[in-house]
Amino acid sequence: MDRFYITTPIYYVNARPHLGHAHTTILADAMARFNRLMGREVHFLTGTDEHGDKIVKAAVASGKSPQAYCDEISAIFKDLWPHLGVEYSQFIRTTDPEHKRLVQKALQKVYDSGDIYFGEYGGHYCFGCERFYTEKELVDGCCPDHKTKPEYIAEKNYFFRMNKYQDWLLEHIKANPEFIRPEQYRSEVVALLESGALEDLCISRPKSRLEWGVELPFDTDYVAYVWFDALLNYLTALGWPDGEQTAKFWPAANHLIAKDILKPHAVFWPTMLKAMGMEPFQHLNVHGYWLIKDTKMSKSLGNVVDPLSLKDKYGLSGFRYFLLREMTFGYDSSFSEEALCGRFNSDLANDLGNLFSRALAMTHKYFGGGVPQAGLGGPDEEELILMAKDACLNFQRLFERFQTAKALEALWELVRGLNKYIDTQAPWALFKENNGSRLATVMYSVLECMRKVAVHLLPVMPEAASAMLAQLGQDGGTTLNLQAEAEGWGQLSAGTAVAKASNLFPRVEPPAPAVPAEPAPKAKEAKAAPSPAPAAPQGPKEPIDFEDFQKIDLRVATVISAEPVPKADKLLLVKLDAGDPEPRQVVAGIAEFWKPEDLVGRQVVVVANLKPRKLRGVESQGMILAVKQDGRLELLAPSATVAPGSAVS
Ligand code: MSP
Repeated sequence: MDRFYITTPIYYVNARPHLGHAHTTILADAMARFNRLMGREVHFLTGTDEHGDKIVKAAVASGKSPQAYCDEISAIFKDLWPHLGVEYSQFIRTTDPEHKRLVQKALQKVYDSGDIYFGEYGGHYCFGCERFYTEKELVDGCCPDHKTKPEYIAEKNYFFRMNKYQDWLLEHIKANPEFIRPEQYRSEVVALLESGALEDLCISRPKSRLEWGVELPFDTDYVAYVWFDALLNYLTALGWPDGEQTAKFWPAANHLIAKDILKPHAVFWPTMLKAMGMEPFQHLNVHGYWLIKDTKMSKSLGNVVDPLSLKDKYGLSGFRYFLLREMTFGYDSSFSEEALCGRFNSDLANDLGNLFSRALAMTHKYFGGGVPQAGLGGPDEEELILMAKDACLNFQRLFERFQTAKALEALWELVRGLNKYIDTQAPWALFKENNGSRLATVMYSVLECMRKVAVHLLPVMPEAASAMLAQLGQDGGTTLNLQAEAEGWGQLSAGTAVAKASNLFPRVEPPAPAVPAEPAPKAKEAKAAPSPAPAAPQGPKEPIDFEDFQKIDLRVATVISAEPVPKADKLLLVKLDAGDPEPRQVVAGIAEFWKPEDLVGRQVVVVANLKPRKLRGVESQGMILAVKQDGRLELLAPSATVAPGSAVS
């Protein structure tokens, strides 16, 4: 497909944008940039959803007319995005006259086809969600999202014959495995459709109760249900039903949402499209929630994080990188500034920043700042070129499916591989030995790979990646193409002048804990060997019951940071993402065997429910598993990367 149409949800204007909205919009922006770099023509739509009860309530609360209120908040969204590096092609508002005209056209079309009828309905209405809930869907009588009690409302309304399209939708989803992705959401929708008759959808609100909406063209006493109006934005923006843009971009429509609005997008929207005689969208892409201490971040729960404050502290590139690296697509992710700072320092300041600053400095020291002419490479260069190719291909294959965290992990294989390559090739030694031709080959290989890394980072961190390309003497123009990067080698021309220094990601001091640490449990300062106890080969131990084994909370964790424990040369303080809301710290007796920088980003296996104890005054919350043999200490890890916190069983 040579086109890509990406949409975000249109956001309600009853709240100011927070980190959750920023994540979706930045992810959409990264996908737009990525697809452009894959050589596709892209249209990127975002906007605001401005009709319905809750907007009127918010307007009344702020003492403004609904229109004046919507104008004000919509502008806040629209103006925020460029500050987060978001370059949308179009910003739509549901109060745009053209949108309203086309919504009426769609309503009339479905009405004329006989798929809209008049009837009476009583149901549990959540004003937060602007929808009726069935008894079954409520949790303890409350809305599962807002945790508030819905109001029972009975009234005469118009209904869309959604039920008529149930079997068609089920078949379509089954025949197109990636129609809804990732898989868990597809299964959820299939289960919903298979579990029983899909109800028809109430698509109107009487004006006696709500006036702020698009008037039904066939009954002026009613306005359209806000979701029927809102979902249509994805088509009205293209000028449906005519418009060159519709024919061009609709077949490539990719919607991006979080799981809160799965049902309207996966069920209401495709059936509405079918009734309108339109083809379904291409993909519905669903991500999880940003959580704060296990709870969804949302304005109604009052736990939101302001994206701009983080951007100011970590830079736009650091902030975007964190969002796209930390959340595994489809799963929830816990937000904490500690995790952001840890990622920033380990992946950006350590791995990437160091790579750039040392490679540029060496190019100046050994070659006066010009890219050297590579000689004939040996097996190590062949291996490096293969590693670069794999990293590019894996990155592209994963990014294509919105799997940005895994894609970046794949790219970091190359970043870390480059740091290792420099260490093993030791250019400083080649320089001392006067081995100029080998030195030139090594440095050329490093610089060319760095260029590849920078090009792949353009969608994620446009600012920093452009700076990296500029430091490598590249203009980063529009001719760049990711597919060419995977296959090609040697695009960096010898003689190109590179920057003298690079300070892309200066380390950030970890934030002070927001809540004072709980008093440590009264434990004697342990004198025994810390985690892990270097184990000598030993004979079989007494059998234990399976139940006893099950008591051990064994988990996979990712190392966020590692540092020496002062005055303890055998100990490292290792911070882990073990799937808890906060990073977990373990004091491990591995300092003789592992350098802190080699641990960061690795996955390890931890015993997570060992009672905390203090080692040299530092609390250790678990134990890292390792094997000691022949003077080496090998860490246990899964055979492929898994989500941090995954249980080992
Ligand atoms: N107006 C509707 C969408 C209509 S689309 C035709 C709406 N608006 S919303 O303002 O509530 O935005 C919901 C979306 O904001 C989520 O689907 C997600 O994209 C984003 N997020 C809001 N809170 C979020 C988190 N805590 N975590 C991740 N994304 C979040 O629903």
